[in-house]
Amino acid sequence: MLNILNLEGKVVVGYNVAKTDDLLLNKDAFRTWQLIRLPAELGGDKNDVSAFRLYNAVCLHLWCLWRYVALERDSNDPSRIINGSGQCPCHGSAYDPLNRKAFGGPAADQSPPSNVLPILYLEADQQKNLWILPPTLDVNANGIVGYGRFLKT
Ligand code: FES
Repeated sequence: MLNILNLEGKVVVGYNVAKTDDLLLNKDAFRTWQLIRLPAELGGDKNDVSAFRLYNAVCLHLWCLWRYVALERDSNDPSRIINGSGQCPCHGSAYDPLNRKAFGGPAADQSPPSNVLPILYLEADQQKNLWILPPTLDVNANGIVGYGRFLKT
């Protein structure tokens, strides 16, 4: 459980949602999720659950761990905003922070559902604690880790 008020202005990554007593199992990449506070331009300045996304950290190409790179100004051209996406260090796949559909690199060339990262849906209680809703691990719902999900239209 995380409290939204404690996460104000922060991007939080590498969140293991299913810790066990087995330390080795807890390090399994397939159990790692990335909790992201969206950039303000995409609604991340709201103080409610809509400001957050929780996506599986395993890239859908060849299963490296992607990382969220926050929005920043281009040092060569400060008028230009760059990054603000999930980026895989292995072969350059890039994922949209709003829906986690691949828009660059080899994962973007893969057919659905293998171009959209699995997601866990969140809700907040009255104390602004974030809770993870029970997932349905299916390509038509939350998705399958390492395989993907279909985007609902
Ligand atoms: S494993 Fe991520 S782009 Fe290849």
